[in-house]
Amino acid sequence: MNQVNKTQKTFALTTPLYYVNDLPHIGSAYTTMAADVVGRFQRLLGHRVLLITGTDEHGQKIQRTAESKGRSPQSFSDEMSAGFVSLWQLLNIQYDRFIRTTSPRHEALVKEFFQKVWESQDIYLGQQKGWYCVSCEEFKEERELLEGHRCPLHPNKEVEWRDEQNYFFRLSKYQEKLQELYKSRPDFIQPESRRNEVLNFVNQGLQDFSISRVNLEWGIPVPVDPNHTIYVWFEALLGYVSALLEPDEEPTLENALAKWWPINLHLIGKDILRFHTVYWPAILMSAGKPLPDRVFVHGFLTKDGQKMGKSLGNTLDPVVLVERYGSDAVRYYFLKEIEFGKDGDFNESRFINVLNADLANDLGNLLNRTLNMVKKYCAGNIPAVTNEEIPLEHSLKAIGLRLGEQVQYAYEALAFNQACETILSLVQASNKFIDEQAPWSLYKQGQQQAVEKVLYAVLESVRLAAYLLSPVIPDISSDIYQQLGFDINFNEQLKTAIAAPFAIHGTWGVLTNQQKLGEPRPIFKRIELPKND
Ligand code: MSP
Repeated sequence: MNQVNKTQKTFALTTPLYYVNDLPHIGSAYTTMAADVVGRFQRLLGHRVLLITGTDEHGQKIQRTAESKGRSPQSFSDEMSAGFVSLWQLLNIQYDRFIRTTSPRHEALVKEFFQKVWESQDIYLGQQKGWYCVSCEEFKEERELLEGHRCPLHPNKEVEWRDEQNYFFRLSKYQEKLQELYKSRPDFIQPESRRNEVLNFVNQGLQDFSISRVNLEWGIPVPVDPNHTIYVWFEALLGYVSALLEPDEEPTLENALAKWWPINLHLIGKDILRFHTVYWPAILMSAGKPLPDRVFVHGFLTKDGQKMGKSLGNTLDPVVLVERYGSDAVRYYFLKEIEFGKDGDFNESRFINVLNADLANDLGNLLNRTLNMVKKYCAGNIPAVTNEEIPLEHSLKAIGLRLGEQVQYAYEALAFNQACETILSLVQASNKFIDEQAPWSLYKQGQQQAVEKVLYAVLESVRLAAYLLSPVIPDISSDIYQQLGFDINFNEQLKTAIAAPFAIHGTWGVLTNQQKLGEPRPIFKRIELPKND
C-alpha cells in the first residue's frame, strides 16, 4: 500500500494503545472496530490510510499485575499483547501498524522527545504529593475521590498516597496556548459535550504534572537522571509517533514525523480525554511539533444496563462473541445500534433481534428472493436494462442517487449509526417496492420488460447498499458483490479501491448485464434465540 501514488490524500488515525494488564475487553474492541470502519471508508475514497493501534506496556499497573501472577512484566506483556493481535484478526481489523511501547525503537524516540522538551526548559525537579490511582495511572485531586479514598473509575480500589521527588512538566505555561487552540480549531475535540468538558477543566487553571517516577523499574529511564523512569502516560502518547516509523528506518523523530504527521484522527474513550486533549497537545507544543487534527471521544459500553466489570461478573468477552456470531455481526451491532460519542448498551436479545431484522431479513432475504426471481424470470441474467432507461424520479433511484453523499457525510462525522440507518432505508424501500410491484404477477401477465426493470432496480439497490455498508460488514458485502457477479473482495484494500472506487460504485446505476450472476446463497443465517431466554 505504500507504493500508491504520492498525490493521493493521506489519512492517519489511531486507536488508544491498550494496557496489557489483561486480555482485550469489549471496550478496546469497540474503539478498534470504529477505527477500522473509518480506515476502510477512507480507503474506498481512494486515500492512503495508516491505521495505528498497539499496546501500552510500561508502568506500575502492568508491573504489579505481572508480579501478582509470578511473571516477568516482559513475558506477561508479550502474552497479553498477542491477545490483542489475535482479536484484531478475528474482528477483521485492517490495521497498518501495531506499536508496542516496550520496543527499543519506541524507547529511542521517547528519549529524543524528552530531550527536546527538556531543552524548551519545560521540565523541572519538584516534590509530588498526592493521591495516585494505579489503575488509571494518574494522580487524582482530593475532591475527585469517593469516600474512603476510592477512585470514581475504580471504586473497588483505594488510591495510594505518594510523596516523592518527580520531574514535572510545565503544563501551566501552556494554558493560554491551549485555550487559543480550542478557540481557533473548534473541531479539535468532538463531540461538543466533551469539548465543553475540556474547556471547563482548562479554564479552572492548569497545574504542572509529574512526568517521572522513582522506584519504578518497569519504564524508560529519564535521560538526564536514570534513577527515574518516564511517567507511562508521557511515554505512551509518543507511541503514536513511534508507530509512524517504517520497519527498517532509523528511529529518529525526524524520520517518524516525515510522512504521516500530523495524525488526522485520534479515537479515544471518555476516560482518557484530558490526556489526549490537554497534556498531549501541550507536550507537542513544547517540542515544537504540529498538533493532530481531531480527537473524537466515544462513550462507555454497559451490559444489560449495568457497568461491566470483573467484580460484577458481567464482562463481555469479545472473543466469545465473535466466535459465536461472527465478526460482521459484532461489528454491525456496535456500530449501528450505538450512537458513537454516547454511552451504549449490549443486550443479547436485542443483539439477536437487530441482526435478524436487518441482515437476515431486510438485506439477506431481499437479495435472495430477487436473485431467485432473476433466475426464474430472466434466465439468471442481470436484466438488460440501462441506468438511463430508469427515470430520475424512480423511487429507488431517487434514494440511491442521494445516498452516497449522505453516507459519506455520516462516515466522515463518525455517525456510524446514521450511515447504517440511511443505507437500510434504501433496503427497506426496495422491499416495499418489490412487494408493491409484484414482479411475479407482472410475469404472469407477460410484462417481461416491466419485470426486468423492477428486478434491475432492486438488484442495483442491494449492490449500492452492500458497497456503502462494506466498511462495517466487509465479509457480507463481499459475498453480496460476488453473488452479483463482481470479482471484488472488500478485504483486499488496494484492489477494491482501484476496481470499485467510491466515485463510481458509491452511486446508483452501476450494474450492467455484462456480469454473470453467482449462485444465490444466504448471506446471513438467522440466529435462533437461546432457549432459556
Ligand atoms: N493505555 C491507555 C491508553 C494510552 S493511549 C496512548 C488506556 N488503556 S485501556 O486499555 O485502559 O483503555 C483503552 C480504551 O478502552 C480507552 O479508550 C477506554 O475509554 C476504553 N474503554 C475501557 N472500558 C470501556 C467500556 N466499558 N466501554 C467503552 N470503552 C471503554 O487507557
